[in-house]
Amino acid sequence: MNKKTYYITTPIYYPSAKLHIGNTYTTVASDALARFKRLTGYDVMFLTGTDEHGQKIQRLAETKGVTPIEYVDEIVAGIKDLWKMMNVSYDKFIRTTDNYHIKAVQDIFKKLYDQGDIYKDSYEGWYCTPCESFWTETQLVNGNCPDCGRPVEKAKEEAYFFRMSKYAPKLITYIESHPEFIQPESRKNEMINNFLKPGLQDLCVSRTSFDWGIPVTFDEKHVVYVWIDALANYITALGYGSENDDLYKKYWPADVHLVGKDILRFHTIYWPIMLMALGIPLPKQVFGHGWLLVDGGKMSKSKGNVVDPVVLVNHFGTDPVRYYLLREIPFGSDGLFNNEIFIKKINSDLANDLGNLLSRTCAMVEKYFDGVIPAPKAKEAIDDELINLALATPKKVEKSIDDLKIPEALDSIWELIGRSNKYIDETTPWILAKDEAKKERLGTVLYNLSEALRIVSVCVSSFLPETSENINKQLNVELTTWDSVASFDGTSAGTKVSKGELLFPRIDVEKKIEELNMLKEQQLAENKPKMQPLKEEITIEDFEKIDLRVVKVLACEPVKGAKKLLKLKVDIGGEERQVISGIAKYYEPSDLVGKYVVLVANLKPAKLRGELSQGMILAASTDDDSKLCTVTIPEELPTGSIVR
Ligand code: ME8
Ligand code: MG
Repeated sequence: MNKKTYYITTPIYYPSAKLHIGNTYTTVASDALARFKRLTGYDVMFLTGTDEHGQKIQRLAETKGVTPIEYVDEIVAGIKDLWKMMNVSYDKFIRTTDNYHIKAVQDIFKKLYDQGDIYKDSYEGWYCTPCESFWTETQLVNGNCPDCGRPVEKAKEEAYFFRMSKYAPKLITYIESHPEFIQPESRKNEMINNFLKPGLQDLCVSRTSFDWGIPVTFDEKHVVYVWIDALANYITALGYGSENDDLYKKYWPADVHLVGKDILRFHTIYWPIMLMALGIPLPKQVFGHGWLLVDGGKMSKSKGNVVDPVVLVNHFGTDPVRYYLLREIPFGSDGLFNNEIFIKKINSDLANDLGNLLSRTCAMVEKYFDGVIPAPKAKEAIDDELINLALATPKKVEKSIDDLKIPEALDSIWELIGRSNKYIDETTPWILAKDEAKKERLGTVLYNLSEALRIVSVCVSSFLPETSENINKQLNVELTTWDSVASFDGTSAGTKVSKGELLFPRIDVEKKIEELNMLKEQQLAENKPKMQPLKEEITIEDFEKIDLRVVKVLACEPVKGAKKLLKLKVDIGGEERQVISGIAKYYEPSDLVGKYVVLVANLKPAKLRGELSQGMILAASTDDDSKLCTVTIPEELPTGSIVR
């Protein structure tokens, strides 16, 4: 019989920086779902990968002085290491720089062009480089990117457009008649009300201002817009459009695309429309999970509050990190990552509840039965509650996972763990052990505990794979299949247990937090940007050759045809001068008017783009040119005043 298939995807990550705990979250959640589906009999395809094109990557590579592919190769290797460390069981890892993907995207683009869904026009609007998103004037919030709040850049160029508008009504009908398509529910309403209902504009799907992208085959100076390139990965990874599309035939449509809420718009509007235009069925579900926050809000490099999963795994192990992400973050809503809560959870849920249950059970089997699990010969009524719960738990877990409620699945498993611990208190094995006549009863209690733990181990294996293996090793569990947890007799009497190390040693909360804080400070100190080496020493006479003056900006405007340049009229001691300055990226012309800035006044005049420049405005900038500010004089000194 053919197994039912299950195709699950994570977003493909931008190799723009090391991944943090937020990115890790999506992939670990997908992994738990994939493992659970395999366990329950599905033929699973679990896809992840990297999204490697775009201006942002090209610029990053430039600042590092390497080629884009050299730059991404290194980060991608780190991402793969991280997934190994997190025990992520992906079946396929796609890189958008893989040749088969490039070829397939080119074919898709051509097909859409040939059938008239993509057309050539010219584009004028605003572009957010960090998000790789185009925005119209009306979409901007306070003149900034509505997604990330950062400044946008004006862009005008010849470009290809996708007729999104043509498909919008069909998409609205689809979404409304398929309530399961966008989950959770609240996000569906957001997509319809905020994006679809106000009217969908055609999407600009090519760029000419940089070349780190997939070339449009019939117009080589264009590269395909990164989101079209990236979204296609979900089908190109399966061989769509290639000679061998067996996987595509087998697994498409995807059962679920798991994505963060910030990219839900791309997955529930652009992607379905691309698929409709290609005549391909839509994925069954797109699930938008929440945001992982830290104390102080969003994680960001500049705030220095980015949580590194590698550090956490090195200190606590893989499963505690997986556990926290899967149990503590309400799936679908935002959640908090906090060291103290994390460590306390390890101590209470993992060390106390689960770890103790296993070590007490093994210890008692060793002490009272020479390490051999006895047969359950003396049942009592009190056992039923434990047994019934143990039998109900796998079903509850399965139901929760079907509803994509991962924390609830873990709640059910911990309910069984709690019930088992309570069973020890109720049956008091250490008292039974004092009375030889109660030996069979004692044996039954320990059998029931071992069997409950076996069921816990099978249920928890998708979420905490290492822990499950460890339990199996200590209890010598043989039956680990999903079928085997449908009855309470999978442990064979006579099995020898081998008590091992504690599953989770208790952690001294305060000491550990102090250690982590020290490490953080160390890292911040190490990552402080290094200053550029100083130039060769000069004398005071050398310096005095430069004539620096205070000037007032009287007027300022862009230089036509030169994106980077501004033309300034300045006053220097009653005399007017024109200065061309490469600061258009950082200032609106009107921001500068009225400012008192510093001019290198005796610089030999030069022509820039046909415009005369009489001097140079002083400005300070970061190494990567991401930030720049002019040197300004805070008080109204007479213009022409000497700066020294
Ligand atoms: O968006 N909490 O890649 P990406 C939870 N290349 N999730 C977070 C998070 C946080 N703090 N920060 C990021 C991209 N994420 C595209 C995807 S798919 C065809 C292309 C999530 O590396 C984010 O929501 O910027 C997204 O789902 C994923 O990490 C990858 O983000
Ligand atoms: Mg992002």
